[in-house]
Amino acid sequence: MSTYTLRSANPAKTRCDAVVVGLVQGGKGLSVAPGGEAVASAYGRTFRPLLASLGVTGKPGEVTKVPTGKQLSSPVLVIVGLGKLGKGESASPAVVRRAAGAAARAVTNAASVAIALPADSVELVRAVTEGFLLGGYTFTTYKKKPDDESKTGQPGEIVVFSPSARKKEFTQAFDDARVVAEAVATTRAWVNTPPGDFTPPSFAATVEAAVKDVTKGRGPKVSIRVRDEKELAELGCGGILGVGMGSSAPPRLVELAYAPRDAVAHLALVGKGITFDSGGLTLKPPTGMNDMKSDMAGAAAVIQATFAIARLGLPLKVTTFAPMAENMVSGSAVRPGDVLTMYGGTTVEVLNTDAEGRLVLGDALLLATETMPDVIVDVATLTGHMVVALGDKVAGVMGSPDVVDGVLEAAKVAGEESWPMPIPEFMDERIHSSRIADLSQHDWIRWGGGLFAAAFLREFTAGLPWAHLDVAGPSYNSGGAYGHITSGGTGFGVATLVDYARSLCT
Ligand code: BES
Ligand code: ZN
Ligand code: MN
Repeated sequence: MSTYTLRSANPAKTRCDAVVVGLVQGGKGLSVAPGGEAVASAYGRTFRPLLASLGVTGKPGEVTKVPTGKQLSSPVLVIVGLGKLGKGESASPAVVRRAAGAAARAVTNAASVAIALPADSVELVRAVTEGFLLGGYTFTTYKKKPDDESKTGQPGEIVVFSPSARKKEFTQAFDDARVVAEAVATTRAWVNTPPGDFTPPSFAATVEAAVKDVTKGRGPKVSIRVRDEKELAELGCGGILGVGMGSSAPPRLVELAYAPRDAVAHLALVGKGITFDSGGLTLKPPTGMNDMKSDMAGAAAVIQATFAIARLGLPLKVTTFAPMAENMVSGSAVRPGDVLTMYGGTTVEVLNTDAEGRLVLGDALLLATETMPDVIVDVATLTGHMVVALGDKVAGVMGSPDVVDGVLEAAKVAGEESWPMPIPEFMDERIHSSRIADLSQHDWIRWGGGLFAAAFLREFTAGLPWAHLDVAGPSYNSGGAYGHITSGGTGFGVATLVDYARSLCT
């Protein structure tokens, strides 16, 4: 457990293991970013020559550690680049969030860290806090010993400096940022857990335990209902059951509800929870399967966002559905050519068992509509097409124009890159092209496959305001860490959903 404080003291005179300052590239060369002035002036005229002799450039993400002498009360100064800023321009929350994350990864061996990055607005306080906490995230559950024994996670004491540390909105932003960061970190941990240890029943049990934890003591009231395969059969959830048929671990449907008395609106969340996606009989090629433990990232994100919204006490009713299944190959697996009867009675001809996400989501979306929400948002690692279109760091957002706009605005505030994609009218014809069932799940036309998937999902939204986030790219980082994004699960979507929820409350 770490302690966190927001302070307005002098970072040069604060005793701790390391002090972090930012560096900006300006017209007149390098200069310390707002928040770090006292540190630079403690060095006086020696600061710039020091930077020059260290070869510091100030480019984004660059981290330089310098042993201090008598200049500072701490033995180590960490200088992190913020990149170029125009005249009079201040660093954006997105840049500061990434820089704080990069700094965190450089100081995981420190017991106490003081962060003197730009934090003169509530948005920046939030960015510094989230960035630092998430950049320092590690997943060591399966290591006998962490790579580097010293790197076992967060420093025990974290101090963030802000000139307005005593103002209520600032301490509130600081506290709220920690709630969001914790939700993102747990999402990452769930995604990173190996698929054999995170089957639908164990995922559901993990969520049940998490609900107990969130609601204990003076925590908010969040209720949970887990439906097992028998209850899913009684309901007629043919999509979830069909996808889960090939696995020895049966499917589950987790439903969460947060219903504060002062709710001003009702948001329904739906998240894809495929705990492993082998493709089924339409088997993936071996390399395509490597990261498919992450195919439950949407479910993890909507569940953790629900907890965060509840812990923040937002006056919003939230109902969350997470259909969980494992897409496997076996004698009992669903076949190409099979017809599934979805919840609500719509029949679907399955032509590619690797397009399983839309099947579990169809059932869950229609169930969500029955709770009479004002708006529905789903999050899913749905298609490789979206990764081809937008790359592996940007989510595609589709659906009702107003909801899409609201989600994109929230994503901007949250610092999660998202971009609108269309659902063209002719997709309607493609999803209705089955000769024997109501809907085609797939048509083997590669082009626009991500949009086809969205059109398919829309069939289950009962015409309610809805947005679909395809997070196949950004939910998992198969490369090295950058900024506050560590490798493996990224927790993408949690922060956007929380900000979208906030936007519904104002
Ligand atoms: N889980 C995958 C999508 C995915 C791909 C997520 C890459 C993350 C990274 C999904 O179930 C899938 O297999 N989609 C197919 C759909 C196709 C068969 C229409 C795909 O994208 O190839
Ligand atoms: Zn999948
Ligand atoms: Mn698949």
